[in-house]
Amino acid sequence: MGICRLGFLVGFLWFMAMDCMAQSNTHHYNFVLQQAQFTRLCETKTMLTVNGSFPGPTIHARRGDTIYVNVHNEGEYGVTIHWHGVKQPRNPWSDGPENITQCPIQPGKNFTYEVILSNEEGTLWWHAHSDWSRATVHGAIVIAPALGTTYPFPAPDAEETIILGRQRVPS
Ligand SMILES: *[C@@H]1O[C@H](CO)[C@@H](O)[C@H](O)[C@H]1NC(C)=O
Ligand SMILES: *[C@@H]1O[C@H](CO)[C@@H](O)[C@H](O)[C@H]1NC(C)=O
Ligand SMILES: *[C@@H]1O[C@H](CO)[C@@H](O)[C@H](O)[C@H]1NC(C)=O
Repeated sequence: MGICRLGFLVGFLWFMAMDCMAQSNTHHYNFVLQQAQFTRLCETKTMLTVNGSFPGPTIHARRGDTIYVNVHNEGEYGVTIHWHGVKQPRNPWSDGPENITQCPIQPGKNFTYEVILSNEEGTLWWHAHSDWSRATVHGAIVIAPALGTTYPFPAPDAEETIILGRQRVPS
């Protein structure tokens, strides 16, 4: 193989690799905060949800990826979404940049969160950041190992996300 053809092949493979990385590195989600009716423990309630689902949608990503979540607030109150356990490189002291986690998205407005994963791997969660709404507005963030790396244990055959909660019984 001539040096020219080899150069072309290497260039082509590099291009393919870059293309693959670009596709696997960024994820886009749309969340719609809306009221929905649910029956749990024999009681029917109207509660705030993401996309009418309880728990909310699961976010899937890989280590090192960036996730953009465009949150539309169709509820009645301002809501902030918190990306629990995700260290944000721009603000190492909190798990979300202050200017992003602290400002609620007002009713009728939307905001796109940029969630930058670094060395997180495993299952984290996202939740609303006010006392009552976090009980219903939450979901999992499932972060798989980076492409080309493996789990620190034998690769599982299947995965299930289990969310444990408790109900406070009035005394
Ligand atoms: C939530 O609902 C919106 C509007 O119907 C839809 O575009 C979006 O894909 C849904 N998001 C998820 C994570 O299911
Ligand atoms: C939040 O602060 C960071 C760093 O200080 C800045 O780069 C970013 O643009 C700010 N984001 C918003 C939505 O203001
Ligand atoms: C609000 O949502 C629209 C449509 O989904 C999008 O084009 C726009 O960038 C979003 N605005 C913010 C601040 O995220």
